Amino acid sequence: MAGYTNLPFRMISYRHGACFAYTEMIAAKSVFKAYRAVSMMLPSPEEPFTGIQIYGSDLEYILKASEKLQSFGKFIDINAGCPVKKVIKKGMGGALLQDLNKLFEIVRALKKSLSVPVTVKTRLGWDKDEVEQIYNGLAKSGADMIVFHARTVKQMFRGKADWKALSRIRDRAIPVFVSGDIFSPEDAVKAIEISGADGALIARGAVGNPWIFSQVASLVDRGFYRTPDLEERIGVMLEHLRKNIEFFGEKKGIVEFRKFVAGYTRNLKRSREFRSLFMKVEDYDSAIDLVKEFFGSGVIT
Ligand SMILES: Cc1cc2nc3c(=O)[nH]c(=O)nc-3n(C[C@H](O)[C@H](O)[C@H](O)COP(=O)(O)O)c2cc1C
Repeated sequence: MAGYTNLPFRMISYRHGACFAYTEMIAAKSVFKAYRAVSMMLPSPEEPFTGIQIYGSDLEYILKASEKLQSFGKFIDINAGCPVKKVIKKGMGGALLQDLNKLFEIVRALKKSLSVPVTVKTRLGWDKDEVEQIYNGLAKSGADMIVFHARTVKQMFRGKADWKALSRIRDRAIPVFVSGDIFSPEDAVKAIEISGADGALIARGAVGNPWIFSQVASLVDRGFYRTPDLEERIGVMLEHLRKNIEFFGEKKGIVEFRKFVAGYTRNLKRSREFRSLFMKVEDYDSAIDLVKEFFGSGVIT
């Protein structure tokens, strides 16, 4: 997720059971024009299984960027699903679904020249459901895995994700993962059941809630899962905050962390007030004081 899945969030997610993760999407052209910014987004050697997601419209740029970055990640993923206007206006992201042959050609070219697996993150279609056509073409082009966010690009985030659409993919030669509207462990199990997918991708549901990854595994393996108590929630929130500060520096680390606070404090007493005060915090010590004031000194371990 652009703006979210930076190194601190990926590490917190792995520690709570995520099996694999992606970098934020990286523009192919920026690899040659803004490498300093790109280098901040690349996986670190300590990450168990992180793929590098690239977006672009030009085959040559995508190919060259992937060749240059491949050694940093476990796989290269092509974004063929982003619906953001400024991205699709330039023929990138979800716009690749307007010309499927071009998308298939990109995957074939990457497979020919890269030594890591090539995967695709996509949607059901541009403006209508073409899931079989997309699956068949990508599998034939050599893709190693496909994740479908079960909406069309035109839909953006409207309506409900249509998990069932993926069940039409028959005779799977490569793994298919389902994405969209998975906010609880029960949702993940249901999405996999209904779609027939090999696994599920969790995006918004993991923001400020990294426990969801191990909860899914526990629900599948043992039929139940544990819910973290207040001390654990605040403890992990502060650990995530410290990782952010270590990675971005104090000021930026705290500002970048604001978007995670709502998730970590959801349904806690006075959480709205806490969140609005946290938006004004500029240093770690003030964050700790605020936590103590709202949740008591006992939550700081
Ligand atoms: C803020 C935000 C940023 C996202 N950035 C990306 C991205 O960079 N690459 C990508 O493949 N999908 C991206 N997505 C889509 C998610 O990966 C996911 O497919 C979508 O949000 C549906 O899943 P969810 O309901 O679990 O959030 C983004 C979604 C959101 C909300």
